[in-house]
Amino acid sequence: MKHLVTGAAGFIGSNIAKELIKNEEEVIGVDCFTDYYSRDLKERNIKELKNNSNFKFIEADLLKMNLNELLDKVDYVYHQAAQAGVRSSWGKDFEIYSRNNILLTQKLLEAARKSKELKKFVYASSSSVYGDTDKLPMQENNRLQPVSPYGVSKLAGENLCYLYYKNFKVPAVSLRYFTVYGEGQRPDMAFHIFIRAFLKGEKINIFGDGKQSRNFTYVSDIVRANILAAEKAPAGAIINIGGAGEGIKLNEAIELIQELTNMKTEIIYTDKVKGDVKHTSADISKAEKLLGYSPAVKFKTGLSKEVKWLKSIYS
Ligand SMILES: NC(=O)c1ccc[n+]([C@@H]2O[C@H](COP(=O)([O-])OP(=O)(O)OC[C@H]3O[C@@H](n4cnc5c(N)ncnc54)[C@H](O)[C@@H]3O)[C@@H](O)[C@H]2O)c1
Repeated sequence: MKHLVTGAAGFIGSNIAKELIKNEEEVIGVDCFTDYYSRDLKERNIKELKNNSNFKFIEADLLKMNLNELLDKVDYVYHQAAQAGVRSSWGKDFEIYSRNNILLTQKLLEAARKSKELKKFVYASSSSVYGDTDKLPMQENNRLQPVSPYGVSKLAGENLCYLYYKNFKVPAVSLRYFTVYGEGQRPDMAFHIFIRAFLKGEKINIFGDGKQSRNFTYVSDIVRANILAAEKAPAGAIINIGGAGEGIKLNEAIELIQELTNMKTEIIYTDKVKGDVKHTSADISKAEKLLGYSPAVKFKTGLSKEVKWLKSIYS
């Protein structure tokens, strides 16, 4: 089978590509190395992949490519390319989010519509489509009210997937990821920032009181959910993908990082940032029912793997 992974040099895309290659599948990976974070980290993500003859890497901006040609004879698309990050999605940068998250998804779906071979188009959506809600755990049929422009852009992508399915039978599926962590995690994400700070003895800034909680999902669980969705999810479905790290407060995660790194650092509490939600919590019963998915990696195990990976970079 032939698989296309967009955003293949990024955190999640590179992990999906690695798993597919491990399964001896043929993979095309596309990434343009946006400047949101260092190229060096992304190069590390795909270093080994590039040595594998089943992996073809294309460095290009998908918005400038001939997507009909790209999708030719592709069986499965895992659409991970996006401008990620909640906090930087305000103001003039929303243009980047509109282009890379909304326009790009629409263009890929147009190409998917013309494809004869495509079996599934798996879209990386986000728990940020829910926004701040008292209705926890978050269920797929909750009212959707994102509180960040990023969340709005991811929801627009998800809605586009659904309407291309409804109108043109594009076999699109959206997976709403809940905060993903593990090897390759983006350097703007909390655990990466905290672990690096512990390792380097730098101060940690917490936005808010640290009592905000998240469902944390280890990256191999997200990867498995993508592959299960490609195989099994009914076209048009929208499915939460959460992890074993349910209801973990930021302060608790920091204590665990302190234990795992066996180091100490100073923690400073500052004002909450606009766009951050207080709690996320995933109802994953739909994923269990449709995909046979349940998270396999315990929070402490996953976090210790991320610590080990970051030690190899920063220690
Ligand atoms: N990391 C999380 O916790 C999380 C949570 C929910 C949803 N998501 C979604 O998962 C996906 C992957 O996130 P990530 O954390 O791996 O982010 P990432 O930034 O590490 O990866 C995205 C990659 O897409 C590439 N890209 C962006 N626009 C492109 C374009 N026009 N052409 C080619 N390449 C382009 C970037 O260079 C980057 O390498 C995103 O769609 C994100 O919105 C992530």
